[in-house]
Amino acid sequence: TDAHTTGPFIAAIDQGTTSSRCIVFDKDGRIVAVDQKEHEQIFPKPGWVEHNAAEIWTNVQEVVAGAIAKAGITPADVKAIGITNQRETTLLWDKNTGEPVHNAIVWQDTRTDALCRELGRNVGQDRFRRETGLPLASYFAGPKVRWLLDNVEGLRERAEAGDILFGTMDSWVIWNLTGGTDGGVHVTDVTNASRTLLMNLHEMRWDEKILQSMDIPSAVLPEIRSSAEVYGVAKAGPLKGVPVASALGDQQAALFGQTCFSQGEAKSTYGTGTFMLMNTGHTPVNSYNGLLTTVGYQIGDERPVYALEGSIAVTGALVQWMRDQMGLIKSAAEIETLASSVEDNGGAYFVPAFSGLFAPYWRPDARGVIAGLTRYVTKAHIARAVLEATAWQTREISDAMTKDSGVELTALKVDGGMTSNNLLMQTLSDFLDAPVVRPMVAETTCLGAAYAAGLAVGFWSSTDELRANWRRAAEWTPRMDAATRDREYKSWLKAVQRSMGWLE
Ligand code: G3P
Repeated sequence: TDAHTTGPFIAAIDQGTTSSRCIVFDKDGRIVAVDQKEHEQIFPKPGWVEHNAAEIWTNVQEVVAGAIAKAGITPADVKAIGITNQRETTLLWDKNTGEPVHNAIVWQDTRTDALCRELGRNVGQDRFRRETGLPLASYFAGPKVRWLLDNVEGLRERAEAGDILFGTMDSWVIWNLTGGTDGGVHVTDVTNASRTLLMNLHEMRWDEKILQSMDIPSAVLPEIRSSAEVYGVAKAGPLKGVPVASALGDQQAALFGQTCFSQGEAKSTYGTGTFMLMNTGHTPVNSYNGLLTTVGYQIGDERPVYALEGSIAVTGALVQWMRDQMGLIKSAAEIETLASSVEDNGGAYFVPAFSGLFAPYWRPDARGVIAGLTRYVTKAHIARAVLEATAWQTREISDAMTKDSGVELTALKVDGGMTSNNLLMQTLSDFLDAPVVRPMVAETTCLGAAYAAGLAVGFWSSTDELRANWRRAAEWTPRMDAATRDREYKSWLKAVQRSMGWLE
């Protein structure tokens, strides 16, 4: 056998927006085995997005079994399980039967727009920002809980009676893993809790006043724990008896996996959406430029580390839309070939405001637009505009980060599926006018969850040890002249303005 794949190992489960996966890592942070399975995206109405949580739990069990089988190992070789997940996606289930009371409402879903506007009436979008670090937006979990309580028949009574549990996908997976109706633990970690609009960011506890304003009974809430500690042990399945020892929202897990442990270090992850997080140390930094203040991670009983975050709802999802809804490409990889067949965007700009605009605008009334069309434009130009949309949105966030933090971007650490697209990475470097670097292990989300779990059980001794595992695999440097960049940026910003104002 390969010397690098002898045990012990850590297994990480990533319950993401489009798929669930399990990756087994060795002590050097190298991938030993991966298994992955997609789940259905349910679009009941324009702006609504749901997942079937029972399907997700089945898939999680399958990918765990798959990865363990591929690695050819036994539970005794696995020292801990780490959990990471799509954040904000909201589920309520019956604790006596283990059955979800409704599909999970996905983070991209905009059905709580009106509710958020109502909650912010006379006070504005920043009503709970001081406590939570977040604007009132349909993105976050709290309003989704309220929507379910108001719209599923009889649910509020059952919730008040203590029969209903709320959780983001970390809670759902951990509760099921640790036994479900047979003693499952109902917990969440500080990073996931920080995305609910219900947690006080300074004290790491549910905020009574906000719960009252949103009319959410505290009986449904999970216990808030750190991101790296043993919550319980797996009760059944191929990892029976292994401690479940970490939970982090996927973007925070990527920050951890990229070993951004020092203040000022940042990463950007290119998945369904794109999320740039900057470690701001032990103090939560307020944003005045449309970013979020969030928890980066908390290791056991150490002080929590905070982050500033720029969230973009639609990046990889736009490529998927081009493939599945428009049929302009057959595979996601084809977008690069098509976009590379032309020199530039031909004057076209694509603002994919499918879930409204997130950072730095927070405009629920925005919808997607393609601007600048002439008869000259071909589908190749549109493909180019699709990739440029991801790069410009990153640029806008990085500008906001610089303004809020006073730290100038010297290089950007990237990861996620879209980073295999070379044209996109070059464009990103051009638009940012800064180097873009990708680490050897691009699966930083799972890696971060594994790292946190490994720290919790003493598999790794310190964050310094983890830092030593980070290795550069690729780097792109800017090639675009300043005049072109400035002109193009202005056109992009004009197109963004055209995307707003589509509700009422
Ligand atoms: O906030 C949403 C984010 O956690 C989703 O990430 O990678 O599953 O699209 P991803």
